[in-house]
Amino acid sequence: MARRKLVYDGKAKTLYEGPEPGTLVQYFKDDTTANNAQKHAIVEGKGVINNRLSEFFMTALSGIGVPTHFIRRLNMREQLIRSVEIIPLEVVVRNLAAGSLSRRLGLEEGSALPRPIIEFYFKDDKLGDPLVTEEHIVAFGWASQQDLDDMVALAVRVNDFLSGLLLGVGIRLVDFKIEIGRIWEGDFMRLIVADEISPDSCRLWDIETGRKLDKDVFRLDLGDLGDAYTEVARRLGVMPEVAAPRTRPRLMN
Ligand code: TMP
Repeated sequence: MARRKLVYDGKAKTLYEGPEPGTLVQYFKDDTTANNAQKHAIVEGKGVINNRLSEFFMTALSGIGVPTHFIRRLNMREQLIRSVEIIPLEVVVRNLAAGSLSRRLGLEEGSALPRPIIEFYFKDDKLGDPLVTEEHIVAFGWASQQDLDDMVALAVRVNDFLSGLLLGVGIRLVDFKIEIGRIWEGDFMRLIVADEISPDSCRLWDIETGRKLDKDVFRLDLGDLGDAYTEVARRLGVMPEVAAPRTRPRLMN
């Protein structure tokens, strides 16, 4: 097979040029990182599960009219996606206090928020993805005020839908991150959900026990990440046949 052109090599995913103009192939790796890649391990099979879970969530979102970059799954680790111009922001939606919000504001993990809270982080590894305000975003031209309004509306729809979907299988969607990209159709620009939606980019807690079923298992050394992701996939009926992947720690230099 001819070698494909590498477009972007990230921490957990690689992008290759797609077979048609305007498409890319997104490859899901087993690499798992935390704390801006200071902690790193290989979780064998994680990429296979995330490929399927992201397909599942994106397809379900398309089904309610939320536009996404997903076109079709190609194989165990790859999916065909639409090429977008990524807006350099991580859009985080929070339903309960956890993670950096708990640390920043001294809120007990799991405490209720008065309403879902949307935050924006500037995507810049060197700066550690700092929290930014709408003022920064518009002033520095990362997105227009209209884009911001559209991004908030998209994020709210994604949150409402995924919260309900996960509640149906006994999982609380505590918070999540999405990335949004621009596509042009003739003279019209549209915003669509891009990147991935998987337990790498969400906090998912079992409703009954509070067990964490997301990347916090790795961040906080709470057990086997593969078991947690497999449980999410199993409950959602995604690849019920898989055995849990195993974590292989990597020495950092
Ligand atoms: P945080 O509490 O660490 O700010 O994370 C909020 C949510 O966003 C959590 O579900 C994890 C997700 N997230 C990412 O997917 N990538 C990131 O780089 C960060 C900082 C958070």
